[in-house]
Amino acid sequence: MNAIDDTVGDVFDLAAQRVEAATGLTFAGLRRRQFDAALDRMAGALGLPGAAACASWLLAGPWDDARSALCARFLTVGETYLLREPRAFDLVCDRARALLARGATRPLRIWSAGCCTGEEPYSIALALRRGVPQLPPERVDILATDLNDAFLDVARAGIYRRWSFRRTDPADLAAFFRPLGDGLYEVDASLRAQVRFANLNLASDVYPSAGTGTLAQDVIFCRNVLMYFAPAQAARVIARLRGCLVDGGWLVVNASEASTRLFDGFTPVFREDAVFFRKDALPVPAPAPAAPAVAPVVPARRPEPLPAAAPSARVPADAAAMDRVHALAQTAGREEALQCLRRAVEAEALSAPLQQRAALFALEHGDPALARHCVRRLLYLEPDSAFGHYLWALIEDAAGRRPRARSLLRDCRRLAGAAADAELGGAAAAWLERMS
Ligand SMILES: C[S@@+](CC[C@H](N)C(=O)[O-])C[C@H]1O[C@@H](n2cnc3c(N)ncnc32)[C@H](O)[C@@H]1O
Repeated sequence: MNAIDDTVGDVFDLAAQRVEAATGLTFAGLRRRQFDAALDRMAGALGLPGAAACASWLLAGPWDDARSALCARFLTVGETYLLREPRAFDLVCDRARALLARGATRPLRIWSAGCCTGEEPYSIALALRRGVPQLPPERVDILATDLNDAFLDVARAGIYRRWSFRRTDPADLAAFFRPLGDGLYEVDASLRAQVRFANLNLASDVYPSAGTGTLAQDVIFCRNVLMYFAPAQAARVIARLRGCLVDGGWLVVNASEASTRLFDGFTPVFREDAVFFRKDALPVPAPAPAAPAVAPVVPARRPEPLPAAAPSARVPADAAAMDRVHALAQTAGREEALQCLRRAVEAEALSAPLQQRAALFALEHGDPALARHCVRRLLYLEPDSAFGHYLWALIEDAAGRRPRARSLLRDCRRLAGAAADAELGGAAAAWLERMS
């Protein structure tokens, strides 16, 4: 690189840093090339001669609405569809039923943060109308916010192409959408009336606040948004979202965003395709009768780290494989990370540490079938693994098989005692107590 290239590189770096500070969107690692390419397109929109000029424009003067709007337009990702990962909508219905059961008269408040073109908040309205028809529509308050005004315009119009309905039951399509011809469908007016759209930058500190209407939320959806933020920024957003929830309220993220260390003050609950985080505070509302028992947090002590200086070459290979999986989860997303994990699980079929870490990752990322496969391997290799029994109990509990989970926890407690692992034994005992 010559001196001019170096200078351009510096300007790009500074521009990326400024964009990250203002919008939360990070372009580290593999995503950096996307940023450089977007600068070119942004320059075109501004009538500037090229990416370097656009980077300089982003750096000059105070950060204003024009810069924010341009970044939102060119740097955000607009992938979404109706009734995506449907278990989250079951959670909303459970909350609505719990509110009704308590005889509360206040509205149920749901916030779709990073709502994109509106499919998510309309799905919430639809699921409630279908699942809890006894809750009057005027007692449902759905706030839907995004950084990108163009997305919000589409959301307010509430008109979607067939592709947005790729996971929608035809009965729901017929009941809640009006065909307009040319493959377009309009959201039913009464569902639209339940959703308030607004521009809100999650990287800013305007929330929680009464002015933004973000206080006392029962459930916040922030799915497929945090994956574009650096961990420190994601942690700040999560802390602010926590401040917006009622005690015992829920934060819903995508399974690949659910690195539990970012979610201080929450209890994670694993489901097949989602992870829900309950704001810790007492008293905690009783779970809905149909739901399986709330699974506890994986004990703070994670499975044994892979030995740093292992005698054989295989252990570092295990560590490297898991590092790759975690890096992919951050950059390419859950599916690719899980695919990489499946390969590693087969390549290192005789490595108990890898099977253990793989099981935990699969569980945290919403793939219980893979987690079960790894736990079986782990217990084949190390039948007395207390942590293996703990993970198995988590899987059984998430599947609603509580007696089996209880018996595994008792085994876990016994094995942890024999191995003098007081922390794990304590975690198993505490969970057993909560179950009884
Ligand atoms: C992939 S979409 C997710 C849509 C929806 N939540 C879902 O899961 O289907 C990500 C959304 O996050 C929004 N977003 C990105 N950065 C944001 C920020 N700093 N504040 C608010 N929204 C943001 C994007 O504009 C985009 O609409």
